[in-house]
Amino acid sequence: MTPQTAPAQSTQPVGDVNRQTIVILDFGSQYSQLIARRIRETQVYSEILSYRTSAEQLRKLQPKGIIISGGPNSVYDSGVPHCDPEIWHLGVPVLGICYGMHLMVQQLGGEVKRAERAEYGKSSLTIDDPTDLLTNVEDGSIMWMSHGDSVVRLPEGFDILAHTQNTPCAAIADHQSKIYGVQFHPEVVHSEGGIALIRNFVYHICNCEPTWTTETFVEEAVREIRGQVGDKRVLLALSGGVDSSTLAFLLHKAIGDQLVCMFIDQGFMRKNEPERLVKLFRDQFHIPVSYVDARERFLQAVEGVVDPEEKRRLIGHEFIKVFEEESTRLGPFDYLAQGTLYPDVIESANTNIDPQTGERVAVKIKSHHNVGGLPSNLRFKLVEPLRRLFKDEVREVARNVGLPDEIVNRHPFPGPGLAIRIIGEITEERLEILRDADFILRQEINRQQLYHHFWQAFAVLLPLRSVGVMGDQRTYAYPVVLRIITSEDGMTADWARVPYDFLETVSNRIVNEVRGVNRVAYDVTSKPPATIEWE
Ligand code: XMP
Repeated sequence: MTPQTAPAQSTQPVGDVNRQTIVILDFGSQYSQLIARRIRETQVYSEILSYRTSAEQLRKLQPKGIIISGGPNSVYDSGVPHCDPEIWHLGVPVLGICYGMHLMVQQLGGEVKRAERAEYGKSSLTIDDPTDLLTNVEDGSIMWMSHGDSVVRLPEGFDILAHTQNTPCAAIADHQSKIYGVQFHPEVVHSEGGIALIRNFVYHICNCEPTWTTETFVEEAVREIRGQVGDKRVLLALSGGVDSSTLAFLLHKAIGDQLVCMFIDQGFMRKNEPERLVKLFRDQFHIPVSYVDARERFLQAVEGVVDPEEKRRLIGHEFIKVFEEESTRLGPFDYLAQGTLYPDVIESANTNIDPQTGERVAVKIKSHHNVGGLPSNLRFKLVEPLRRLFKDEVREVARNVGLPDEIVNRHPFPGPGLAIRIIGEITEERLEILRDADFILRQEINRQQLYHHFWQAFAVLLPLRSVGVMGDQRTYAYPVVLRIITSEDGMTADWARVPYDFLETVSNRIVNEVRGVNRVAYDVTSKPPATIEWE
């Protein structure tokens, strides 16, 4: 079998080496990030490093424990990725999951073969040794399996902790060396007792303490920001989302008025949003925001444009121009604050490092800032205090520092905003209509406490008119489409089965209260084949 490409992550951590850390060596498992999140949920810091990380590098990092991830390959094939065999002799507890377990067995003298019966999905675990790794994991627990290979001979010193009907070695241990292997995936939600197993490993085997909390994160982020930027000035473009809002809070706490927050109003935000955002930061957090009213410019930039890609391109282009002008007017700045998150860091093999200073530099602003790229003469150094966090951790920090629920749990909102929810040409009149319809939809969602049930919920305006009748009058007006969806990650989505009464209320209110609309439709298409946004 041809070996599959292994991930190109760094062997250098982004976190603080002094912190108690569980290192995950990634062999390309789809679940590596999930393992890291599960560990962090136990309040212990965890980082994903490349499988190429050597035992020597790990010795310097002094992790409290090491997890060897699963992966798409078979250990007995040639050319597949291996870990440094010295890792087993570091004296640090190790847990191998699936492929990680197979590597452990093979490198320590046991044997792995293609399983007579592959096991995919749920399997009942029979526990042979209910102590140690499997303390509090109930006999008969359902565990999630995904493997075509099995351990057929254990290395010396290993015992079986649990088995399933098809897999004699489902969990194994060398108690003395504190080396463990599991054939199933304790990190996925379908594995009952998976969290108990992870807690056993982290707390009882690796002796970690719960040191990964919002409080310690904020303290450290503030200290790091001060250390990095010194007395230099930092520019931050607020977008209204949870990442840039949390960034603003942390940076302001760290460096006060060395931070300049800018909010570019391109005119495509939802009703009242720009005003509320600026007011919130000014009044509640005492963080001044430089409000840039660019509404007219953006409207002119897209005048008469119908093609969706062209709209996005022109809006992105205009954003760069405004950004450049404003950063020059408010500057000079040494640093640009960017809301890079941990998944962005581990997934971007092509990070741009300034060869002179060794710092990450901006050649790309995140898409929520709506920019495809910055001109090369505008190379800021980056300050990225969120680079260690997963999205749910950002929300937790945001919640704990007092950002309001409307920001903490805000649905995703595209950079080009309402511009890609008005199909066809954008005019001031159409923007006004869409803003009002969208506002009513959101009001009713909040009134009926449905907000948290949806991934996104918004209105779309179609550039055509249909006939209606209101009172004795014939009308000829726009239709509005409601798009309300559920999703796990935005990659796939389903239309929400909302109550008919809810649709009726929203429809009545929009037609009665928004002048220019005489018809409301509900989009009942999933993604795929449709996308979430209409443009
Ligand atoms: P689609 O329409 O591709 O959207 O199914 C998937 C998710 O991405 C959001 N989206 C954007 N987000 N800038 C963004 O920051 C954009 O240009 C953009 N376009 C789509 C969309 O709202 C959905 O959550």
